[in-house]
Amino acid sequence: MYLNNTIKGFSKLTKDEKLELVASYFPDSDLAINELKTFWHPDKKTQKLFDEFSENTISNFYVPFGIAPNMMINAKNYMVPMVIEESSVIAAASSSAKFWAERGGFKSKIIATEKIGQVHFLWSGNIEKLNKHLPSLKEELINGTKHITSRMDERGGGITNIAIIDLTSELKNYYQLKATFETKNSMGANFINSCLEEFAQILKNYISNNPDFNLEEKECNIIMSILSNYTPNCLVETTVECEVLRLKNADIDMDPEVFAQKFETAVKIAQIDTHRATTHNKGIFNGIDAVALATGNDFRAIEACGHTFAARSGKYKSLTDIAIDNNHFKYTLTIPLALGTVGGLTTLHPLAKRSLQLLGNPNAEDLMMIMSSAGLANNFGAIKSLVTKGIQQGHMKMHLFNILNQYHATEVEKSEAREFFKEEKVSVKKVSDFLASLRQSLH
Ligand code: MEV
Repeated sequence: MYLNNTIKGFSKLTKDEKLELVASYFPDSDLAINELKTFWHPDKKTQKLFDEFSENTISNFYVPFGIAPNMMINAKNYMVPMVIEESSVIAAASSSAKFWAERGGFKSKIIATEKIGQVHFLWSGNIEKLNKHLPSLKEELINGTKHITSRMDERGGGITNIAIIDLTSELKNYYQLKATFETKNSMGANFINSCLEEFAQILKNYISNNPDFNLEEKECNIIMSILSNYTPNCLVETTVECEVLRLKNADIDMDPEVFAQKFETAVKIAQIDTHRATTHNKGIFNGIDAVALATGNDFRAIEACGHTFAARSGKYKSLTDIAIDNNHFKYTLTIPLALGTVGGLTTLHPLAKRSLQLLGNPNAEDLMMIMSSAGLANNFGAIKSLVTKGIQQGHMKMHLFNILNQYHATEVEKSEAREFFKEEKVSVKKVSDFLASLRQSLH
């Protein structure tokens, strides 16, 4: 819908006024208002909480919240909460989780937990001179941010390093103050950004007040101060492994050795071909994003970071790696995940809080291991289907109810369809034909 005029002062309207204004653009305004209102939470306090998460809210957008049970990670059994609209994702995660629980489960370990922030500035001074000042500048930066860092320091986190990066060969006069942080169980975005904005001010004052710098050098042009969502050193590695012969399963209607070889080739293709790598990694993020959403984590930051990491060699590749040696199948996902289990929505959103409870109130490191296991589970399930029976059979089976709902099927029709399509391939045409003949026979 295109509007002929701009709307002024929308954010100043009350929620009801916003809703009415928006609904006036629908041909069935009253119906639209009622429909949008049916998604309001019946408890006013809870609804207010949701309204205050964002701006200009007029309703809530429901997405299914489901569970992948039997996710065995480092010998602990988890029920993993997942929030996702794609019908086959939780089914695939659950089936892979069960498959691997019977073969030793997911083995996961934290490689590192470092976060990064940058102050980008332009400066035309002598960099050697500034570098000589780095120790005392650092001291000022650390001391000048104590009011922000003291509580994080107490929890064992804080600023871990500060460096000056010379990028003048790429852009005239361009430098960075690059800092690394340990933010423990918080994702740390607000903490890091607050430190960086303070750093920028301290840096500017340091240069302009120090007599060592001449008049021209005293001008430091701060461009921006912001964390980097690329955190290659906030890394988790998760593996599944077993003897090739143990890859036998009712789902894998294939000799396990042939299956292992096809699986290995599929992963190698995702390491060679960027088009395939993108889809391969999308399958990993099916699981990762679903757990990120369920636990109130920032899935955009997680995705952006993961895709950059996938391209770290200069070529975008699969995030998983495979090794088959001496009839031993070993499949590994290595992925950066900057997560929080405190702060942000993690404790504010009632269902995110429940998700974390269900996972035994994990710390950020535990959650990195859980989330990467879900990612590997989804990816394993996808590749297993792709190299055996193909993806559509399972996908369409899971999609059956969406198609039935599109045709407004009744509960009786749904249950008939469920029986019928146990043995039949699902397609939109077949479901529509099935419903037509069922409806005719009932007349
Ligand atoms: C669909 O959501 C995900 C897959 O396309 C992933 C893949 O191809 O590996 C099945």
